[in-house]
Amino acid sequence: MKKHVKANVSWIGYMDWELKKFHGDEYSVDVGSSQNAYLIQEEKTVLMDTVWTPHKDEWLNNLKSEIDLNDIDYIVINHGECDHTGSLPLLMKEIPNTPIYCSALAVKSLEGQYGKQGWDFHVVKTGDTLDIGNGKELIFVEMKMLHWPDSMATYLTKDNILFSMDAFGQHFACGELFNDLADQDLLWNQALKYFVNILHPFKALIGPKLKEIENLNIPIDMIAPSHGVIWRDNPNQIIEAYAKWADPNYQEDQITIVYDTMWNGTEKLAHAIADEIFNQSPKTRVKVMSVAHEDKNDIMTEVFKSKAIAVGSPTCVNDVLTSVAGWLAFLRSLKFKNKKAAGFGCYGWSGESVKIIEEELKRAGFEVVDANVRSNWNPEQEDLDKVPALVSALLGEVQEGADEEEITGNAPGKRVYRCSICGWTYSEEKGDQANGIAPGTLWEDLPEDFKCPICKQPKNVFNEVE
Ligand code: FEO
Repeated sequence: MKKHVKANVSWIGYMDWELKKFHGDEYSVDVGSSQNAYLIQEEKTVLMDTVWTPHKDEWLNNLKSEIDLNDIDYIVINHGECDHTGSLPLLMKEIPNTPIYCSALAVKSLEGQYGKQGWDFHVVKTGDTLDIGNGKELIFVEMKMLHWPDSMATYLTKDNILFSMDAFGQHFACGELFNDLADQDLLWNQALKYFVNILHPFKALIGPKLKEIENLNIPIDMIAPSHGVIWRDNPNQIIEAYAKWADPNYQEDQITIVYDTMWNGTEKLAHAIADEIFNQSPKTRVKVMSVAHEDKNDIMTEVFKSKAIAVGSPTCVNDVLTSVAGWLAFLRSLKFKNKKAAGFGCYGWSGESVKIIEEELKRAGFEVVDANVRSNWNPEQEDLDKVPALVSALLGEVQEGADEEEITGNAPGKRVYRCSICGWTYSEEKGDQANGIAPGTLWEDLPEDFKCPICKQPKNVFNEVE
């Protein structure tokens, strides 16, 4: 069954009511999800995207029940990830000569995943158009690193629909399809969770991309993402929410305490910190979350909202607990900025956990305060007496520049710089021969208009690394 969207546009996706995990086990799905594919039936018939591999047979049968596959003139693939292309190989077996419109990097991604099948790719870039008859066109807009290098959006003129791919989406199975019909609490909770856990590492790109779309001067009546609801009632509200969340200074008056515990000593410290926050700043919202028991994606959403966090673990065999270690690695990948942090924990004999936590928090871009609580065995009064100093440091202002990645001091000619957006690295020793930069070229000798070859971001988003 297809569902009518607007004029000659229909939804022909898969409502994944039962989905519980996404990206392997990396993303917890609370209320199902959807893979949104769309059918545009003007003088030309366009299929936009497909659905995830496990649903390919059911989806293709559904598509066949709506149209003769041979009537499809064009396929648009906005993004190569398999939740949107997993059914493409099966479809292409039936209509192998149908042209596929996608970005250059999507060709690489599709051929990398499904092999070189000889498909008829038509590479498009920002501003390219495709006439689909009845006076309507598709306009393509590259969305590099939002959230893959190959991502793009497609705009349908006259109907004024922006098919935004993953951006503005949510993992939310909403049978009602449209934002105005959806449960608003579920919708906004899932939109924020999606932004934090999928898009946050690339949020520096969101403001400029929104500006670029605004500068295209195109009216947007609907935003149709690839997961969750279609924004038809005031679609600008999700654009405004993204602009707000992408602001580097966005934070709420909240402190989140994240911990794990073995024999409840570190848990007692977590509770003492929460009580002291209320004591010093009753208006500050406090969340206490166990990494062992709470969902890691939900914890990250709370960290995103927070101006500061405290992270606790007991020392176990000279290290932190594995639950905390894994969570800290995830924290680093999300690239939070402008937040304070502190470590705390109990120990029996060696007591390394707090130092390890503090080092990991610095690596993750947090400003680690000059106060912590290390408690030998169970927290005694003398340990609890250190809690007020930790809390007052967390409640203070973030120091300017505290989130800058540490410069290594490597010798010129040996330095390596990493793009903070996509992770591509430039090595002075190796240069970038694919782009005509000779080995031995120093970072400062690269032209000022040098751009990351993957995500096309400028020099100032690079940091020197070891
Ligand atoms: Fe929904 Fe990046 O795939």
